[in-house]
Amino acid sequence: MGEYGIKMPPEKRIMLQSRLQRRLKALQMSDFKEYVDFVFSPEGQIEEVIHMMDVVSTNKTDFFRESIHFDFLLSDALPDLISNRNERSIHVWSAGCSSGEEPYTIAITLSEFKAHHPGFDFAISASDISTKMLNSAAQAIYGEEKVQDIPHSVKVKYFLRSKNHEKKQVRVIAELRNKVEFFRQNLLFLPMESNPKYSIIFCRNVLIYFDRDNQYNILSKLCMNLKSGGYLFLGHSESITGFNLPVTQIMPTVFKKK
Ligand SMILES: C[S@@+](CC[C@H](N)C(=O)[O-])C[C@H]1O[C@@H](n2cnc3c(N)ncnc32)[C@H](O)[C@@H]1O
Repeated sequence: MGEYGIKMPPEKRIMLQSRLQRRLKALQMSDFKEYVDFVFSPEGQIEEVIHMMDVVSTNKTDFFRESIHFDFLLSDALPDLISNRNERSIHVWSAGCSSGEEPYTIAITLSEFKAHHPGFDFAISASDISTKMLNSAAQAIYGEEKVQDIPHSVKVKYFLRSKNHEKKQVRVIAELRNKVEFFRQNLLFLPMESNPKYSIIFCRNVLIYFDRDNQYNILSKLCMNLKSGGYLFLGHSESITGFNLPVTQIMPTVFKKK
């Protein structure tokens, strides 16, 4: 999937076909040739590619996924940023945020830190390639099963239960939602940046979909967006081994910009 830099080995063919069937049905097309012609037409490149990416990419995510990162934020990264770097107001980017669980988990963690550090404040930007995911992230409505492992004290503080109990849904409180701004960004087309504004960047479980050249391209641009002394968090199976990047490793998936 050239322009999107996604690895699609032959063994994924059946998975891909079955997922794309939904688009064929929606467009009332009878075979894949017709669909492929449409995707590569000028109209398809504008309209269909976004839908195709929604169907093809994997959006699995969770609140407090890889919870060690949020513990590290509280115990190390945030104290370091405010004491050593004197950053009172920090900007965080969740790149590849899927349905929003990651940026809202960051928002909960930073709110907890803020409660004990008067004068501290934060803003979170969250991006994804999928407009469908971004819309659902901005809604911030989740099934109750999604929050079942969150400690009760945290749940009652940051989530509201649906008035209609039969729906079994919760919504992130407005105060937290207002801290997160969502935008669409294809990570393969990140602009060069000479004036970085982020103190922390999360880009977890996204790089795995790309080949090495694109991984390096994305990581280099993410580093350009990270302030000196800022922190980069990757997913548990992602690494920067072999890449020449201006960061030092703090933990297997946590890096600090030089
Ligand atoms: C598995 S989810 C990871 C969500 C979250 N970061 C986490 O670790 O739980 C991967 C996300 O990356 C997004 N994605 C895939 N390709 C992308 C691209 N080229 N640019 C931006 N986001 C992309 C997908 O839409 C999906 O929401």
